[in-house]
Amino acid sequence: MITFPESFLWGAATAAHQIEGNNTNADWWAREHAADTELAEPSGDAADSLHRWPEDVALLADRGFGAYRFSLEWARIEPEEGQFSRAMLQHYRRIVDACLDSGLAPMVTLHHFTNPRWFARRGGWSSPRAAERFARYVEAVTPILDGVSWICDINEVNMLSMTRGEEGNEMTAASLPAPSPLVTEHLIDAHHRAKDALSTLPAAVGWSVAGQAFHAADGCAEEMAAYRYPREDLFLEASRGDDFLGVQAYLRTFIGADGPLPVPAGAETTLMGWEYFPQALEICIRHAWELSGHTPLFVTENGIATADDERRKDYTFDALAGLANAMADGIDVRGYLHWSLLDNYEWGTYRPTFGLVGIDPKTFDRLPKPSLDWLARIARSGELVR
Ligand code: BGC
Repeated sequence: MITFPESFLWGAATAAHQIEGNNTNADWWAREHAADTELAEPSGDAADSLHRWPEDVALLADRGFGAYRFSLEWARIEPEEGQFSRAMLQHYRRIVDACLDSGLAPMVTLHHFTNPRWFARRGGWSSPRAAERFARYVEAVTPILDGVSWICDINEVNMLSMTRGEEGNEMTAASLPAPSPLVTEHLIDAHHRAKDALSTLPAAVGWSVAGQAFHAADGCAEEMAAYRYPREDLFLEASRGDDFLGVQAYLRTFIGADGPLPVPAGAETTLMGWEYFPQALEICIRHAWELSGHTPLFVTENGIATADDERRKDYTFDALAGLANAMADGIDVRGYLHWSLLDNYEWGTYRPTFGLVGIDPKTFDRLPKPSLDWLARIARSGELVR
């Protein structure tokens, strides 16, 4: 029987733009509505979590989970440069309070892919003022984070460095351009400034990095290492000394002589078109532990886009078994947050369903899937059972 430590935090994650709805001041909304958009559909009302967040918190709290990861929407909090909305700050504080009151540790993400339109217009993360602008926002949100023990300042900083936050880009890592060294430098600077601003709080502060469990095709070990370094390893190394490092893992990517290769013929794929590969979590955890110089880890996202909830359980079971293997070797992992609590807007489409809970698109009713209770049982007992 595989067991997890009693202090291990179990929960699920969401992100503002993907669930709130009508995030009209964000760069992503503009992209969704551009005349020449390549996206399949706009986010619209999403899961209406802007209004229904108490139901989201209760879905986890009522089942005895220990944590909820959600994000603050910068575009709502600072709708114009330097103008902060007290009402929105109070809104997000109410979510923090609801978590604390119901026994959930909130993990608050400060930036999850979306930027205010004004920020994108002024050069996004390429602007020499990007880090300073982000730090000013972080200072503004610091007071509402009192009592929060986990803060993820930047979600998937390596993916963000590829999308640059200036204009839209595909979110699938394999189709993204290489990170711009300038943007990477600005993001690392932003992270340091955010940590300084948040140092008045007792919270653990870290960022999260997307791991791809890179595999080298035959004879391509060097090409793989060279491809991986600016996209992943550099960020893992830059996490050294942080309070924690968020690991997000879903898939593996094969690298050949000319870069990423297609999913191997005949492999099972998910609704994202990714290879079904739950072992990715263990591989990414081991790699992150080594490269970050043994920074405490937190699984901030892991999950599968599938319409088959039984397959979701299979995937999660195997991912957790791998995680337990890594922990048995002494790797310090503090918790596991499933992606995602809700079916949500997957950056251009609602088709890939990652949720433990479905959403009725007309009534916004929350429709828990069996996997939610299944994971809750594991969370409450700490025992990994099918
Ligand atoms: C992101 C989420 C996304 C998920 C599945 C991560 O890249 O943080 O926003 O929905 O993976 O693609």
